[in-house]
Amino acid sequence: MQIIKIILKMNKLIAPSLLSADFLHLSKDIDMVNKSQADWFHCDIMDGVFVPNISYGIPLVQAIKKEALKPLDVHLMIVEPDRYFEKFRDAGADIITFHYEASTHIHRSVQMLKSLGVKAGVVLNPHTSVELLEDILGDVDLILLMSVNPGFGGQKFIERTYAKIKKLRQMIENQGLKTMIEVDGGVNVENAPKLFNAGADVLVAGNAVFKSEDPMKTIELMKS
Ligand code: DX5
Ligand code: ZN
Repeated sequence: MQIIKIILKMNKLIAPSLLSADFLHLSKDIDMVNKSQADWFHCDIMDGVFVPNISYGIPLVQAIKKEALKPLDVHLMIVEPDRYFEKFRDAGADIITFHYEASTHIHRSVQMLKSLGVKAGVVLNPHTSVELLEDILGDVDLILLMSVNPGFGGQKFIERTYAKIKKLRQMIENQGLKTMIEVDGGVNVENAPKLFNAGADVLVAGNAVFKSEDPMKTIELMKS
């Protein structure tokens, strides 16, 4: 029982999204994440084409890497993501996820990421069915389920995500895999326990962390 508890705890990871951080004082927020119980830094890369917003790019990821003491989880919301894999790896990404909807040859893209020595993940928009991943599940390290439409922080969580997590968890178990499930968008202290219970391993949180009165405490609460 004790061992099971420890394993479950290990799977409750929090990845604060720097999109909601204070860009003018980014090192202060990076320092907070370093000192907190958070596990990864989530970096949102938007190109204004795949999503209707532009965020930041390679130079900022390089700068974040200099101060971050935890892995960088780089979420590419861009068209033709393969063109930029190596550049983001060189900038310091430890994990790179790209969108199913932005890719034609997912298997090839995943192999490319592996050959670059980073963890590879595929992201699904809210409308994309987890069943489409059946034949690629064994090749990826993680699946990121969007629980809002990508492009902006601070949006409302889409409730249908719970059912997607449960279905994907079942698919992973059926194949006897260790693929992780990450959830991104509208995550907060209230829905975090329900998301972990549904089968999520990693929760991304932007506004809920950085706009809270006590970000470190919020992260702690999300993990507990
Ligand atoms: C949305 C991004 C998210 C965003 C989450 O397109 O992928 O990572 O920063 O922000 P919140 O947690 O505020 O919904
Ligand atoms: Zn994201």
